[in-house]
Amino acid sequence: MSGYSLVIHGGAGAIREPGRFEPSLRRIVAAGAAALEQGATARDAVSLCVTLLEDDPLYNAGLGSVLNAEGRAECDAGIMDGRNLMAGAVAGVGRIKNPILAARAVMEKSPHVFLIGAGAEDFAAAHGVALVTESYFRTPERLTDLARAKARNETALDHYAPPTEKLGTVGAVARDRGGNLAAATSTGGMTNKLPGRVGDSPVIGAGVFADNASCAVSCTGVGEHFLRTTLARVVGFLIEDQGLDTQAAADAAIARLIGKVGGVGALIVVGRDGVCARAQNAPGLLSAWARDGDIEVSTQ
Ligand code: GLY
Repeated sequence: MSGYSLVIHGGAGAIREPGRFEPSLRRIVAAGAAALEQGATARDAVSLCVTLLEDDPLYNAGLGSVLNAEGRAECDAGIMDGRNLMAGAVAGVGRIKNPILAARAVMEKSPHVFLIGAGAEDFAAAHGVALVTESYFRTPERLTDLARAKARNETALDHYAPPTEKLGTVGAVARDRGGNLAAATSTGGMTNKLPGRVGDSPVIGAGVFADNASCAVSCTGVGEHFLRTTLARVVGFLIEDQGLDTQAAADAAIARLIGKVGGVGALIVVGRDGVCARAQNAPGLLSAWARDGDIEVSTQ
């Protein structure tokens, strides 16, 4: 197969005013599709899409990241290349404009997989990744979210939007024309979270996973649930070791999330055969996919 497949997501949950997300999702998936069309690798495509999602304040990642209990952004991101199982991740970073680019730098320019905090920030800066001041993330909207969460004494996923909430996190999965897979996930985590809390998004096998032998996966939802079930890796196991097809594996993984820990969320998958799938038990999922020139956007 010489075609390409790409799926992106902008978080799951009960989506308020879904129409406001559609132009952004369409623009970003089209940019990734154009890159794949021109021969970009899956690694390049997921990195591009997640960077664009991070730059859009609609989503809980990069610029739109929610604030922790001390009023600071602590972003997490991870990327994996299914061609060689190379992976990179950062967590608890509050000075990096695009955490996914820092994760990619860890993958490509260090002997490590996972860097955190100030060490990750210094490493990223030393390798040309743009830094910002903490005020970049302290937008009026995110400060209002934090004040509301504190008033309710709660830790809230994503942007506060009563009476419904979206569950945050962004991600992309792709299969390029060479048949290689890649996945990337990025998030600001939870409003009013404890300083130092890390979710599933940067954890290889929990919120992000790619292996040419099975699939590429990006998750969104309550990070603790995905960490405890290592859910992204479960999808790969179901395809490679249990012989399920891509959609069946995605559905079975969400069933496992519910059955094992009563979890809530969603995931997107591209299988080794290029089949795109998504599964969720959240009421909505912001997603878009492109396959050989066709683009679809969904906010359901
Ligand atoms: N799934 C994102 C988080 O819980 O941090």
